[in-house]
Amino acid sequence: MKKSPKPKLSLIRSVTWLFSITAVMCVASVQAQQINPLESDPRAARAGGVLYRSQCATCHGGDARGITGIDAPDLTLIWAAGTTDERVFQTIRNGVPGSIMPPHGFTDPETWMLVSYLRSVAATAATEFSGDAVRGSGLFLSNCARCHRVRGEGGSLGPDLSQITSRRSAAALINSVREPSAVIARRYQPVTVVFESVATGASRSPQRVQGTLKSEDAFSIQMMDTNQQLRAFMKADLLEFLRESDSLMPAFSRNELSSAELEDILTFLQSQL
Ligand code: HEC
Ligand code: HEC
Repeated sequence: MKKSPKPKLSLIRSVTWLFSITAVMCVASVQAQQINPLESDPRAARAGGVLYRSQCATCHGGDARGITGIDAPDLTLIWAAGTTDERVFQTIRNGVPGSIMPPHGFTDPETWMLVSYLRSVAATAATEFSGDAVRGSGLFLSNCARCHRVRGEGGSLGPDLSQITSRRSAAALINSVREPSAVIARRYQPVTVVFESVATGASRSPQRVQGTLKSEDAFSIQMMDTNQQLRAFMKADLLEFLRESDSLMPAFSRNELSSAELEDILTFLQSQL
């Protein structure tokens, strides 16, 4: 088979690039590895993306935003949450003991390429909403606050929304409200448990409790029920344990919440950063 010379040339180029990078790394590794030596090189993020898809996507998702049902974090949010290149480097290298996040035997340059890739997919900073924040505050109180906290006030069935406008794109935020079940937030997997109630004496009847799954091991689960009480169950005591695909958040159609009203709510949330 005859191949065009172009891919070969680019292969030689990238091999040469890898060599020179490795040489730079050897010098760099003498000092503490705090900043990413490949930071300004766009090829690093691309090469990191290839490694990412082969080694990380099964748990963290093809777009690094996590996968419903697997409790691995959305990696596009780690920078906004305040992590550093160095910490991410060490996490990739050593894994997270006590979790399924495994250690990886990548070389230093490969590990930095992954860090570069994760930087390149980071959620973009604050979107500008330009509605009426005061009206939005009222709409939030009447429609959302029973399940969502902002600055320490509100319910806990759904995630705290204090920082949300800096961590999600406008499209993702709108989608979360219009179609909550399309992407379910990490640590808010809806579950139903059915168990036999013994508390009410003679008549034993099965009880059904819905909520969001907070943690799980081989023997037990912890969940927050829809009354926002934390509850723990031994799996052996359950008649049923169902992972649901419908979010516990109701979908808000345009009839219930117009686009202008949603913009007001998002403007309010943006003002709470
Ligand atoms: C088998 C599943 C699995 C694979 C494969 C995996 N991870 Fe993870 N990763 C996890 C889990 C689970 C956590 C959360 C650990 C914890 O904090 O409990 C995690 C945590 C992390 C964190 C820390 C996030 C934070 O909140 O600061 C980073 C960074 C990370 N992974 C990057 C990667 C990269 C890069 C790869 C591929 C080289 C990878 N992971 C492969 C499951 C996985
Ligand atoms: C009955 C409780 C409930 C109400 C009411 C509710 N939510 Fe939610 N919300 C949830 C739950 C549970 C989740 C997590 C599961 C999911 O992602 O669907 C969630 C998720 C979200 C997310 C995604 C968060 C993330 O990390 O991506 C946004 C944004 C959101 N809600 C906004 C709103 C807004 C705005 C309102 C009011 C118009 C509202 N919610 C009303 C329960 C609720």
